[in-house]
Amino acid sequence: MTFDRTHLLGLGDLSRERITTLLDSARSFAEISERSVKKVPTLRGKTVVNLFLEPSTRTRVSFELAAKRLSADTLSISGSASSVVKGESLLDTARTLAAYAPDIVVLRHKAAGAALLLTQHIDASFVNAGDGAREHPTQGLLDLYTVREHFGDVAGLRISILGDVAHSRVARSAIIGFSKMGANVTVCGPPTMIPQGIEELGCSVTFSREAAVRSADVIMLLRIQKERLSEELFPSDREYRRVYGVDEDVLTFAQSHTMVMHPGPVNRGVEICPDVADGPRSLILNQVKNGLAVRMAVLFHCASGGLS
Ligand code: CP
Repeated sequence: MTFDRTHLLGLGDLSRERITTLLDSARSFAEISERSVKKVPTLRGKTVVNLFLEPSTRTRVSFELAAKRLSADTLSISGSASSVVKGESLLDTARTLAAYAPDIVVLRHKAAGAALLLTQHIDASFVNAGDGAREHPTQGLLDLYTVREHFGDVAGLRISILGDVAHSRVARSAIIGFSKMGANVTVCGPPTMIPQGIEELGCSVTFSREAAVRSADVIMLLRIQKERLSEELFPSDREYRRVYGVDEDVLTFAQSHTMVMHPGPVNRGVEICPDVADGPRSLILNQVKNGLAVRMAVLFHCASGGLS
C-alpha cells in the first residue's frame, strides 16, 4: 500500500535546494516566537501526534511547542506512559493512533528505519525525530540553521565532529547535511567510535583531537551513546576526557573565530567541560532555540506537501 504524503525521514533524501527552502522558512517562522502573541493559524484543524518511544527533552518539547504555535491539535505520547509497556507493538500503536486521523506523526524510535516502516502502513506524514543510530534530520537542519545564522553561510566552512560517531544519528545527519551544503566535514574520535567506511558519507577522518580542533571553524561535540553500547569502547570517562574531551586548554589550538556546538544532552566533564559549554564560543543554547523555528518549518512543509 502507498500513501500520497510528504515525509521527512532523513537529510539524505533532501536536495540542497529543499534544505535551503526549509532553512529560509525556519527564518520566517523564528519571527513568530518574538511576538507578544506567539501563535499563527497556519495548521489550524490539523492534528500532530508526537510519538516518542525513546527519551527526549529538546526534540519532544520543541515539536510540541512548534505544533502549538502553528495552532495544530497535539497529542504527545511517550513509551513509558503508553501501552507499549504492556507489549503493544510499534505498528499496533501506530494503527491505534491512526484511528484518530492524525495529519503528521513525529516519531522517535530506537530502530533504524522505524518511521520509514510506518509510512508503508499508516496514512499520515511522518517526521523522523531520531531512528536508532541512522538519522536525526531535524537536528541536522537546526545545526545547519545555527551555523548559517552565526557565519552567514555554510559553504566552505570546516566542521569537525568529535565523539562517538559510530552510534550517533546526529553525526550522520550532520555529515550528510553539512557536506551537501558545501562544508568540509571531518570526524574525530577513538578508532572504536569511528565506523569503517564513514568517508562514503562525504567526510574525512582524523584520530587526532588537536588536528580536528586546529582546522575547524565549528567544533561539534558528541556524547558517548552509552544506551547503544553492547561493550565499553573506551577504558573510562576520565580517560576519554583526557584524550578526546574539550576544555579551554584544548581550545587554545582553535582559531579565534571557532565556535563550539553540541546537540545535547551534554555529559559535562566527559566530552565537554563546563568552561566550554557555558563559554563565549558555545552555540549550544542557540541550537536549542533554533530547533523550534526549524520544527515549525518542517511541520508546515509536511502539512502542505512542500518537501516532495
Ligand atoms: N538533541 C536531541 O535530540 O536531544 P533530545 O534527546 O533531548 O531530544
